[in-house]
This record gives sequence, structure tokens and C-alpha cells, in this order.
Amino acid sequence: MNKSLQIVTSLDGSHTLYSSEINDHYHSIYGAVQESEYIFIKNGFDICTANPVHIFEVGFGTGLNALLTAAKNLEETREVLYTSVEKYPLGENIIRALNHHQYAGPEGEKLSGLIHSAETGKMSVISKNFKLMKIHSDFINDYITGSFDLIYFDAFGPDKQPEIWSSGVFEKISALTKSGGILVTYSAKGDVKRNLRAVGFDVKILSGPPGKRHIIRAYKI
Ligand SMILES: C[S@@+](CC[C@H](N)C(=O)[O-])C[C@H]1O[C@@H](n2cnc3c(N)ncnc32)[C@H](O)[C@@H]1O
Repeated sequence: MNKSLQIVTSLDGSHTLYSSEINDHYHSIYGAVQESEYIFIKNGFDICTANPVHIFEVGFGTGLNALLTAAKNLEETREVLYTSVEKYPLGENIIRALNHHQYAGPEGEKLSGLIHSAETGKMSVISKNFKLMKIHSDFINDYITGSFDLIYFDAFGPDKQPEIWSSGVFEKISALTKSGGILVTYSAKGDVKRNLRAVGFDVKILSGPPGKRHIIRAYKI
């Protein structure tokens, strides 16, 4: 196991990771699954009406957002094409130790297995209506192309990794987002709001999950 990563049990019982290198957690310690469900599923996936829905995630990490989205999608008929970029893919030993599949319904274990074994750089079928493309890449410096309805912006916090919350990176995000598309993220800091507005998003501030005052849902104008 990577020595700088430690598994932490958050307050809802679900696991998250603490990175001593970045000095940040991958999810909220008040509830990793609770936070992911609230921000990305309830305030993003459930709000987006596109069908098919093209999702782009910055920071695949543990794959929790992909897993919860795939689990939610089993209840629906819409088609999901989920693309996720990750600079530092996690090792299999860490992934296997996480308990996220226990929070993703009766098919959680199967979905998690398929998500994590999916080949990087290739669109893989995870379930009838859910396809996943994992990209091993540095979102800040590498060229990424596409046109997406829904963005899950889930990088490390702006205090820990300010360069990924910069206006330059949000320009890139804006170019990847369809007009009317939605971006959801957990930080509602002033700079984040300003940078999103500057690249053409209408920023809405929503109340946050436990432990977080506000989150952002932004619409591409
Ligand atoms: C807050 S954690 C991710 C949470 C993830 N969505 C999950 O559910 O586990 C942030 C993630 O962004 C990744 N990351 C950091 N810098 C990146 C970059 N420049 N390009 C792509 N991914 C990056 C980190 O390695 C980490 O996995």
C-alpha cells in the first residue's frame, strides 16, 4: 500500500483515504458516501435531464462517484457515458480494502469489480446502460477533448491544490461543457465562484451535506 495513503472510516461508516502528501482526505470525514450521494448524485445526476448523459469527472480517485452513479442508473433507463480522469491511479490493494460497494445496493460488489477492472483508455460496458472510460492523465497539463452534459469536479481542496481550481483549468472545463450543461463541486469558496463565472457559468450556491456549509451547482450559459 502507498505509504502516504491511509484508510479512514468516515462518520457514516464508509471509507475514505487520507493522503499525508497532500494533507487532505479524498472525501468528507463526516460521511464519504453521504457527501458523494448528496453533491454528485442528488444535486448533479438527478438534476441533469440529458439522455444519453455524458459525464466528465476530474479525479477518479477511489471511483466512489462512478460507483454511486452506476448504482443509481440501474433504477433508470437513461444511457450514461462516464469519462473520468485521474493523474495518480490507486493501487489494487487499496481499492480492494475499501468498503464502498456495501453502500451501492445489491449490485454494488459486481459494479465495483467491473469499474475497477475496466481497462484504462477504453470505453467499457459496466451495465446495460452505463459505460465507463477511465483516463490516466494530468488534467492540468494534458489535452482532453469531448463535450459533456454533467461535470463532477472532485479534485483535492482549493487550499491544498490551488492550481487545479485556477481560471485556466476552469477555461478547459468550460470548453468541455455543453451549453446548458451542469457542473457540481463541493467547494463554494469565493475564488471558485469567481473563476467559474469568468468562464461562462451561472453559479448557484446550495446548502451542503453535513460538515459543509455550501456547495456549487453551476450551469454553462
Ligand atoms: C478528492 S480526491 C478524489 C475523489 C474521487 N472522486 C473519489 O471518489 O475517490 C481528488 C482526486 O484528484 C486526483 N488528481 C489530483 N490532481 C489531478 C490532476 N492534475 N489530474 C487528474 N487527477 C488529479 C487525485 O489523485 C485524487 O484521486
